[in-house]
Amino acid sequence: MNHQHFSEIDSTQDYLKDNFDKLQKVDSDILISTDKQTKGKGRLGNSWSQLENSLAFSFSLKPNEEITLSSLEIGVLVADFMKQDLDIDIKLKWPNDLLNSNGEKCGGILCNLKDNNKLIVGVGINLGNHSPKSHPSEKTKFPIGFLKADIILDLNKQKDIPAKIYKTILNNRLGPEAVINKWNSYNFHKDKEVLIKDTNSSVQGKFVGINKIGAALIEDQSGTTHTLVSGSLWNV
Ligand code: BTN
Repeated sequence: MNHQHFSEIDSTQDYLKDNFDKLQKVDSDILISTDKQTKGKGRLGNSWSQLENSLAFSFSLKPNEEITLSSLEIGVLVADFMKQDLDIDIKLKWPNDLLNSNGEKCGGILCNLKDNNKLIVGVGINLGNHSPKSHPSEKTKFPIGFLKADIILDLNKQKDIPAKIYKTILNNRLGPEAVINKWNSYNFHKDKEVLIKDTNSSVQGKFVGINKIGAALIEDQSGTTHTLVSGSLWNV
């Protein structure tokens, strides 16, 4: 594995994108991690602020054989890692968020496709507690939280935990059926009423699961099931 760790960087995702070809010559498994990210990127053009005691890293990955399941597969494998190695229960929010058991957002996954056969995956995780003054909840549309109050990311933890997570992902790749089954079992909104908004549409109903390409299946009041391939999910 070609692992580079920075004490500070603008964005691990941008760094990996910009240096991909050069880094890949050393090893095709590339991991970029940092203690502090100053210009983190989120999904849909949002920014990603790094809080205290949080992880920020990006890595290269072969897509899932069903490419649109890739980010869901990564969510499942991160949740498995958290349970097995840190005894933390994570829930998943469609399509790409990591939640704590109170349903607060504690992390996100960003996937960019490179040359049609490689993914550049960025993961941010609010692992330990952060002070209320750094808490950006008022500025965000979804409540922000952390996973475990007593975790303090001192010494080399912001380098070592990403390396362990990346190894877990590389060594435990899942086929499409396993991704769907496991993702449904981690789904925070399973059978809950939600609203999914996309650029031009919005659908409200019960989140019944995901289909074989990872689209959300929402059953409305009349019993009709809507299949949504993109959008943002809101509690109602
Ligand atoms: C989201 O929920 O919008 C996804 C957030 C992804 C943030 C991570 S932090 C490491 C990597 N570098 C970035 O600039 N973004 C991702």
